Amino acid sequence: MSKIDLSKLYEVAQNHSLATTNAHPHSSDDGNVVGVHNGIIENYQEQREKLIKKGYSFTSQTDTEVAIKLIDYYYKKYNLGPTDAISRAMVRIRGSYALCIMFKDYPGEIYCARKDSPMIIGISNGESYVASDVPAILKYTRSVYYIGNMQIARLQKGEVTFFNIDSEEIQLPLTEIKWDAESAEKGGYKHFMLKEIHEQPKVVRDTINSVLKDNIVHFDSFNLTDEEIKEIDTVYIIACGSAYHVGVAIQYVIESLTSLSVRVELASEFRYREMKLRQNSLVIVISQSGETADTLAALRMSKDRGIKTLGIVNVVGSSIAREADNVFYTLAGPEISVATTKAYSCQLVAGYLLALQFAKSRSEITDEKYTELLEAIKTIPDKIEKILVDKERLQWYSTKLVNITDSFFIGRGIDYAIGMEGSLKLKEISYIHSEAYAAGELKHGPISLIEDGTVVISVVTQDKLVEKTISNMVEVKSRGAKVMAVTTAGKYFLEDTAEFVCYVPAIENLFAGSLSVVPLQLLSYYVSIGKGFDVDKPRNLAKSVTVE
Ligand code: G6P
Repeated sequence: MSKIDLSKLYEVAQNHSLATTNAHPHSSDDGNVVGVHNGIIENYQEQREKLIKKGYSFTSQTDTEVAIKLIDYYYKKYNLGPTDAISRAMVRIRGSYALCIMFKDYPGEIYCARKDSPMIIGISNGESYVASDVPAILKYTRSVYYIGNMQIARLQKGEVTFFNIDSEEIQLPLTEIKWDAESAEKGGYKHFMLKEIHEQPKVVRDTINSVLKDNIVHFDSFNLTDEEIKEIDTVYIIACGSAYHVGVAIQYVIESLTSLSVRVELASEFRYREMKLRQNSLVIVISQSGETADTLAALRMSKDRGIKTLGIVNVVGSSIAREADNVFYTLAGPEISVATTKAYSCQLVAGYLLALQFAKSRSEITDEKYTELLEAIKTIPDKIEKILVDKERLQWYSTKLVNITDSFFIGRGIDYAIGMEGSLKLKEISYIHSEAYAAGELKHGPISLIEDGTVVISVVTQDKLVEKTISNMVEVKSRGAKVMAVTTAGKYFLEDTAEFVCYVPAIENLFAGSLSVVPLQLLSYYVSIGKGFDVDKPRNLAKSVTVE
């Protein structure tokens, strides 16, 4: 959704109701109510049947048409005003929606309603805007309202009024967006993904600095005292996609620095499991958008069970940011490319800083170790910068991967977590079949798929595990695999096994993932470009998955 020309939308809706198509906007039978919708209405069949009994007919298969006609029904039957008619429909429909509705009797007004789907409202000099997210309207305004769940808004020229579900007027704060429109543009790069990869040193540095005061990590906005952190025995990290991969990496870091038990869960699984959560636990949800439906549901479930929650979130004012008990904002700025890079990297450092803070609050780390690790974290941005300078080698090697059909990413410990992310990056933007395996698992099945030319990309940064992973590389190589490795400077012996080795700067093992992931992002980018794909908008994928 973006800036809406009222007269055009009306015209389109009227013509549209004559054609049998599912495209938005949809309108009531007499064209009195029209609207567009993002989300899924779960009980639309049931509502549809009820409306058919009341004499309504349907031109599309969509849930949206049902919502519009349900509003029209209440509007006419009880002779209600727009907000009352909308709120009646809102309590009848189940699911998620960001709805924009217009009534013929109320020209110059757009009504919006929201539940569990992203929606923001902007305002400037005599104009009002509604959109799913801030970048869509940045060209026009930086003054934004975050409409809440089960709230309604009335947009008029340069004026917005909010209502609760009882149609009572409510006040919402106006937020000034700090990022400029430029940061949502490509800024000279060919693609958003490449631009965002290059922004990583800056945004990672910003994220680290946002919690540093006098060289100590401070989480001022957290409601968690040291005493409360000491009492926690289990941390559940819950997320989807790349954010889940961050959780897998962070698990190793928290376990290494503290005595906390850590479980990492996919939000889509977690929400339907009957897991008995430990009361002395903390749920950490990780989400760039703050709107991923499964992650949001997992957060709500955890809160319902009385568990303390903490969100690592990028989008300010998003649902997860608003609902989590504590928020650590990553400062990645707007991420446009569907395949995440800079938000992922910010989430990783956010996780390190949390792990460090947990260790300190629980007195499980000496002051010297704390300082040493913090200093290591602070070197990450400059080291990412160095990797980016050397990207041509990866571009060259990517030409060898453009025509492959299968690939495996292997690693152990944190390297496995990074392999998972590398594998996802490759498959999502270059459509090459790719799997990530804990290197030790290869012999339990996947090794049977290795044949002449199969590409195996190994991540080898963890000193204690290098030899183990090399033995797996040798195993696949002897079966014909082409082996590539990403490792830290100094491990030159990998060249005996791998046909191509990419070195990242040496760093404390716990934080090596922040460096080893960068060549994998670049590699995927170059392979996708080499295949001529639309790297920023891969097929079938959405940036923000706001439905189940
Ligand atoms: C989509 C995106 C991924 C992202 C995942 C979770 O699949 O394409 O890049 O990791 O959603 O999104 P979130 O906004 O919760 O981090």
